[in-house]
Amino acid sequence: MPPLNRRDFLSWVLGSLTGTTLASKSWASDRPAFLKDYAAENNLLYGAATQYSILKRDRDFTRRFIEECAILVPENDFKWEKLRPAPQSFDFTKTDWLSSFAQAHNLKLRGHTLVWYKALPEWFTTEVNQTNAAKHLVNHITTIVERYAGKIHSWDVVNEAVEPKDGRNDGLRTSPWLEYLGEEYIELAFKTAAAADPQALLTYNDFDLAYDTPEQEARRTATLKLLERLKAKDIPVQALGMQGHLYAGSDRFNAVKLQRFMQNVADLGLKIIVSELDVVDRTLEAASIFRDRAVANIYREYLEIVLTQPAVIAVITWGLSDRYTWLKKYRPRMDEANVRPLPLDHNLAPKLAWEALARALQRF
Ligand code: XIL
Repeated sequence: MPPLNRRDFLSWVLGSLTGTTLASKSWASDRPAFLKDYAAENNLLYGAATQYSILKRDRDFTRRFIEECAILVPENDFKWEKLRPAPQSFDFTKTDWLSSFAQAHNLKLRGHTLVWYKALPEWFTTEVNQTNAAKHLVNHITTIVERYAGKIHSWDVVNEAVEPKDGRNDGLRTSPWLEYLGEEYIELAFKTAAAADPQALLTYNDFDLAYDTPEQEARRTATLKLLERLKAKDIPVQALGMQGHLYAGSDRFNAVKLQRFMQNVADLGLKIIVSELDVVDRTLEAASIFRDRAVANIYREYLEIVLTQPAVIAVITWGLSDRYTWLKKYRPRMDEANVRPLPLDHNLAPKLAWEALARALQRF
């Protein structure tokens, strides 16, 4: 990145102090104005998760989404409980709309997710068993992946299959899929997805891989071992999704450990996608001027570490604006103030987190 000129620098300092400067004003006017442009300068994709129901009703948000993003991840619409009303049926109304929307607005589309232990429909418990689990898995993946073949940038084929706390030697999470099919469910899922769409980048996606804690170190180790086993068997896994749900608190990053993990992943020939970035702000004091600065610092620290790795191809935040974030429900603040985990505020204006992203996406 070229050095900041004096005007930019003063504006940045002022903005950091007051927390009020609009991000776009602190940049020279000949610079691109949106996150996707900063990312593209470095051959990266920036995008966010959102939902059919939001894009259908909020025109201002939709306009900002198209401006800032180059890739869209349906936050829930591809999940089993949304797509599978009954054991033999699929309801593609929303995902078809999202696929056309993405195409119309030149957005890449990321599929999330084909195999997960959560978000299963109610009928799953009574219908799926050891005898028919493989048939259900293959039918689900084949039907969906074939339908959108050629239109998907990457599929989260398997989500959150690792859980060292479950105490197994292989570090895998005990889930219905594991119980019915053994570890092979993961291979079956990747092979089936590859056969249905040879173009999409097939991703293994997991969380809690960033911090220097014993739990997250164990998850990094187990994830790497899983990826090594899959690659040794020539299973078509092509990328790791590091979710990146970060939080303000006492846990710290360890650049050496995190970079070593990512290098090990890259050495297996895998790409890396930062797939669900956001920052929980529940432990921070209420005033948004302080909160926004602390949240932006966490974005900056994390991205300065992970974006040194050339295998990273995309950075995706789990939502674009604080107007819509799962953390409102899942990690609310004690003081009931609105949570502020994302790059844009409630009014769709860039926050300091947006600035941090814009700078980091240029890999400086
Ligand atoms: C979350 C969605 O954001 C919520 O709207 C939904 O109620 C629950 O799931 N890891 C994942 C995502 O892989 O699918 C989760 O999304 C967040 C954690």
